[in-house]
Amino acid sequence: MHLTNLEERMLSGENGEVMGRMFRLLVRLGEIYGADRMIPVNSSQVAGVSYKSIGDPGIEFLEDYASKNAKVKVVTFLNPAGMDIEDWQKLNIPPGFAEKQLRIMNAFKKMGIVVSATCTPYLAGNLPRFREHIAWSESSAISFSNSVIGARTNREGGPSALAAALCGVTPNYGLHLDENRKPQMLVEVNARLEDSADFGALGYVVGKQAKNRIPYFKGIKEADTDQLKALGAAMAASGAVALYHVEDMTPEAHLMNTNGLEKLSVSDKDVNETFAKLTTGKEPDIIILGCPHSSLKEIMMVSRKLEGKKLNKPLWICTSRMVKEAANRMGFTQIIETAGGKVVADTCMVVSPIEDMGYKTTAVNSGKAANYLPGFCKQSVIFGRLDNILEKVTV
Ligand code: F3S
Repeated sequence: MHLTNLEERMLSGENGEVMGRMFRLLVRLGEIYGADRMIPVNSSQVAGVSYKSIGDPGIEFLEDYASKNAKVKVVTFLNPAGMDIEDWQKLNIPPGFAEKQLRIMNAFKKMGIVVSATCTPYLAGNLPRFREHIAWSESSAISFSNSVIGARTNREGGPSALAAALCGVTPNYGLHLDENRKPQMLVEVNARLEDSADFGALGYVVGKQAKNRIPYFKGIKEADTDQLKALGAAMAASGAVALYHVEDMTPEAHLMNTNGLEKLSVSDKDVNETFAKLTTGKEPDIIILGCPHSSLKEIMMVSRKLEGKKLNKPLWICTSRMVKEAANRMGFTQIIETAGGKVVADTCMVVSPIEDMGYKTTAVNSGKAANYLPGFCKQSVIFGRLDNILEKVTV
């Protein structure tokens, strides 16, 4: 791999031990995947933020780097943390967990990372442009930025995204290159898709078949950005899809040739069977929405549905801090709280310790959450459309 003089110096440790170590990681990755050179990235998003995921070794690693004055070169956001950084007490997060989580956030902050912990950085102030190179590591954010925005990122791990953030570059391979962004299967959609949950169910079905291939969708007549984020998130969870194209909708679709691709058809029956298959519980202990993190529009929709009603089960709507601030200002949060729910920032149902808080059955409208909650949080799941879920728990 060709390295510039500056990069050679970074590699030799001239810019400090941390930079040397991080640059070596990027070079190694580049060698494994056959990159020709490093390319600059304009933003990064680092996963491995929740204390539940990284534990004490993760804290030690981050505090060590922060104490050595490691500083990011590009705007860098974080993946969701294990709790709402400001309102964790109201959510009954165990204090021992909170103390560790706050240490993690402080270490990231010392490195110059924006401690907005969200899987939708593009809704919270970190929006890449078409064809921009970035290094993101949360799977739904990767899918959205590659597919809906047309930015370019590989599926980075937490360490490689941190390395890219600190060094300002990433190896040039994989989805950074035109030739690797072509569709590898054709999905013909013959299902009625109305609610975001329908898109999550479709994504679950396609992700299972696609694995890490690139699907090209035909037959999706209408979808807003919230529904596309639900689709991508589910495909990245049941499979490892990092990029998809939708005819007449996503920005690279018109450049693609679909002749001769393997075909998959998805019908109403497939979508409905997915709701049934992923539903393993009966009565929810809690309802958690916002996987991926809710947009302002989604919070507004829930607040309208809850106006004048009372919830008989706890409800969390997970979102980014920035979107929560806007929801507060618009009065949406207050309506939701009056009904008995909470708008929760910085965290989500999968990375927070809900299994230690007495919850055993969680209702969700997300194909990704329905897929992950049994394994990551020991939950039985109720997976359904928003109206169906709220109907069960409002009076
Ligand atoms: Fe985001 Fe957590 Fe879902 S990181 S995509 S809300 S599992």
